[in-house]
Amino acid sequence: MALDAETLQQLLDTVRRFVTERCVPIEGKVADDDKVPDEIIAEMRSLGLFGLSVPEEYGGLGLSMTEEVKVMFELGQTSPAFRSVIGTNVGIGSQGVVMFGTEQQKREWLPKLASGEVTASFALTEPGAGSDAASLKVQARRYGDHYVINGTKRYITNANRARMFTLMARTDPGKRGASGVTAFIVPATTPGISVGRPERKMGQQGAHISDVVFQDVRIPAECRLGEEGEGFKVAMQVLDRGRLHISAVCVGVAERLIREALNYARTREQFGQPIAEFQLIQGMLADCRTEAYAARCMVLDAAAKRDAGINVTMEASCTKYFASEMVGRVADRAVQIFGGAGYIADYGIERFYRDVRIFRIYEGTSQIQQLVIARNMLKSD
Ligand code: CAA
Repeated sequence: MALDAETLQQLLDTVRRFVTERCVPIEGKVADDDKVPDEIIAEMRSLGLFGLSVPEEYGGLGLSMTEEVKVMFELGQTSPAFRSVIGTNVGIGSQGVVMFGTEQQKREWLPKLASGEVTASFALTEPGAGSDAASLKVQARRYGDHYVINGTKRYITNANRARMFTLMARTDPGKRGASGVTAFIVPATTPGISVGRPERKMGQQGAHISDVVFQDVRIPAECRLGEEGEGFKVAMQVLDRGRLHISAVCVGVAERLIREALNYARTREQFGQPIAEFQLIQGMLADCRTEAYAARCMVLDAAAKRDAGINVTMEASCTKYFASEMVGRVADRAVQIFGGAGYIADYGIERFYRDVRIFRIYEGTSQIQQLVIARNMLKSD
C-alpha cells in the first residue's frame, strides 16, 4: 500500500537523520570492529526498517517498491554494512514468504521479520553453484510428511544471525536443472544446521557472510514454499525485486561519494586555487552526477513499473547492471579527486571504494545481468 506523500517524506527525513547523526559518525568504528553496534540495530528496529516491505497486515510498513527504493536512496548514503543488517529481512530473505507463502507461513514468520525479532537469510548459492544457480546440489529428500536436507550453502548474508533460511534445494535428483529445485522455509534452530565463521572480505566490514551446512536436517512438509519444482522461479522472482533494492543502494552510495568529492574539491587548494576550479576535476564531477542521475531515473522507472504489476525482469537487470557499474566508476573518481587522501584510510573514501566492489557481483554479476537482458531482448524483439 502506498503511503501519503507527507508520511513518506517524514519517513525519508527520519532515515536521513538516522544516517547523518547515528551511522556516519561511527562508519570507521564499524569497519574496524567488523560489527554494527547492537544499539544501532535496536534503533533500526524501532524505526521499522526491518519491516519496510512486509505488508501492514503482518506488522510491516508495507511500502511499495517505489517507496522502498526511496528509503534505500537515503540509507545507502552511509556504509553499506548498516543496510545489510536489514537487507535480508526487507528483501531476499523475506520476499519468498511474502510472494509465495501460505497464510499460515506468513502469519508465523512475517511479523517477526518485520519487527526484526528474527533475521532471515536467502540460501541459494553453493560452492559449485554461483552464477549457474540452477545447478545447485543441496538435496531435500521427501520421506512421508517430512523432508531431509543435506548439503552446503555458501556466502549466505546474515547467516550468523539468521533464525530462518529461505532455502533452495533439489527435491528431484533426477532433474538436473531449474525444474528439480524447490524452496523451503527452514528454522535455523533445526538440529543439523551449522553456520561457518563469517568470511574475511575485501570490504563491507560489519556485514557478514558465512557457509551454512545442512546435515540430515529434518523439516515438516509444511515448510515447503510453493510447489515442488517451483523453487527456482521463487528465487528468480525474489532476485528481480532484490536487484532493484540493491540498485537503489548503489545510487545512495554514489550520492554520498559525489557530495564528499564536491566538498573536497571546493576546499582543497592546489596551484593557488580550489581544485574544483580545474576543468579536469569538473569533468569527473559532471560524469559522476550524470551517471548517478541516470541510475536514479532507471531505479524509479523500474520500481514504478513493478508497482503497476508489470514484469520487470529485464529492467531490474538493466538497472542493477548500470547502477552497480556506475557506483564503481563514481567511487574510483572520488578516490582520484581526493588524490593521496583518497588512498588514506582516515578519509573513508578508500573504504567505500572497496565496499562498492561487491555490488557488481552479488545478486547476479554484471555478466549475468547482461545475459538476462539479452535473453529477454531476443525473446521479445
Ligand atoms: N522470473 C520467473 N521465472 C524465471 C525468471 C524470472 N526472473 N528467470 C528464469 N525463470 C524461469 C524460466 O522461465 C525457466 O522456466 P521454464 O523452464 O518453465 O521455462 C526457468 O526459470 C529456468 O530459467 P533459465 O532457463 O533462464 O535458467 P538458466 O539456468 O539458463 O539461467 C540465470 C538462469 C539467469 C543465469 C540464473 O541462474 C541467475 O540469475 N543466476 C545468478 C544467480 C544470482 O543472482 N545469485 C545471487 C545469489 S543471492 C546473493 O548474492 C545475495 C547474498 O546474500 C550474497
